[in-house]
Amino acid sequence: MDSNIKSIGILTSGGDAPGMNAAIRAVTRAGISNGMRTYGIYRGFKGLISDEIKEFKTNSVSNIIQLGGTILKTARSDEFLTTEGRNIAFENMKKYGMDALVVIGGDGSLTGASVFANEFNIPVVGLPATIDNDLNGTDTTIGYDTALNTIMMAMDKIRDTATSHERLFFVEVMGRNCGFLALNSAIASGAEAAIIPEISIEKDQLGELIEQGFRKSKSSSMVLVTESDVTGGAMKMADRVKKEYPQYDVRVTILGHLQRGGSPSAQDRILASRMGIASIQALLENQRNVMIGIHENEIDYIPFKRAIKKQREINEELLEVLRISSI
Ligand code: F6P
Repeated sequence: MDSNIKSIGILTSGGDAPGMNAAIRAVTRAGISNGMRTYGIYRGFKGLISDEIKEFKTNSVSNIIQLGGTILKTARSDEFLTTEGRNIAFENMKKYGMDALVVIGGDGSLTGASVFANEFNIPVVGLPATIDNDLNGTDTTIGYDTALNTIMMAMDKIRDTATSHERLFFVEVMGRNCGFLALNSAIASGAEAAIIPEISIEKDQLGELIEQGFRKSKSSSMVLVTESDVTGGAMKMADRVKKEYPQYDVRVTILGHLQRGGSPSAQDRILASRMGIASIQALLENQRNVMIGIHENEIDYIPFKRAIKKQREINEELLEVLRISSI
């Protein structure tokens, strides 16, 4: 295929997600097999500014597909938010002769990538990698499936103790402002409810649950809560129940960063491999400023603007599945 791209840089940015390494491996090897020189950029945009760059050969990415985290490290860079910082980043790209960038990360990283691409007219392709699953135009993101499974396994353990003590548990999960992790892990673990930001904006979900007498037929309950300013988090829910319903024996578990770690699931490894190879294909087709998405099991190119445009909508059917299956 006719493309001017002879050399690319790869970086991971923002919160790490399981499957980032599988993506780095696929991009590197697809780049090399198309005759491109590939560079690993360490610590995201921060490393592009501070020149933490190393040429990658095929064996630079050997034995990493099964590893969580990112071998390239990651960072959230304040300097890249400034014009001066981005100018230095561009100079470093020129210094190494990089024609294009592949950015692996979530919405913040792709927003930064989009600004940079437009400012310097550089071809940039993004891979959606975040446990939050909060990007538009893709059915799922790299890392989401693994995190979901991690939460489900933790919930199975919490259920043992919740049942033994006949307690009400509020379990807080990540997701930033997005309820996918809470809602789907609630379904997968047989929890009673999920309190998610998308719904909390409109109504008092906890109040409704209590009014419905959500413990009337059960001696123990588990409620998933998305960490978010909108929901207020699991501690706030528990405090409220303790005050208003002192008869309930309430406990809180905040799963925190363990949700981001661990060996990626088969689904995330395959997704990352497909998306990584698609990112090179996109560059060969002279695509620029697109995120690789997956829709109905087909690879798709999503303009950055659309990918990061607004909050993804929660599927109403999932809410109904949880409601009915938890009565
Ligand atoms: O975006 C991924 C994510 O794990 C969010 O779910 C969470 O709100 C945030 O990152 C936590 O970021 P940090 O690791 O910087 O505390």
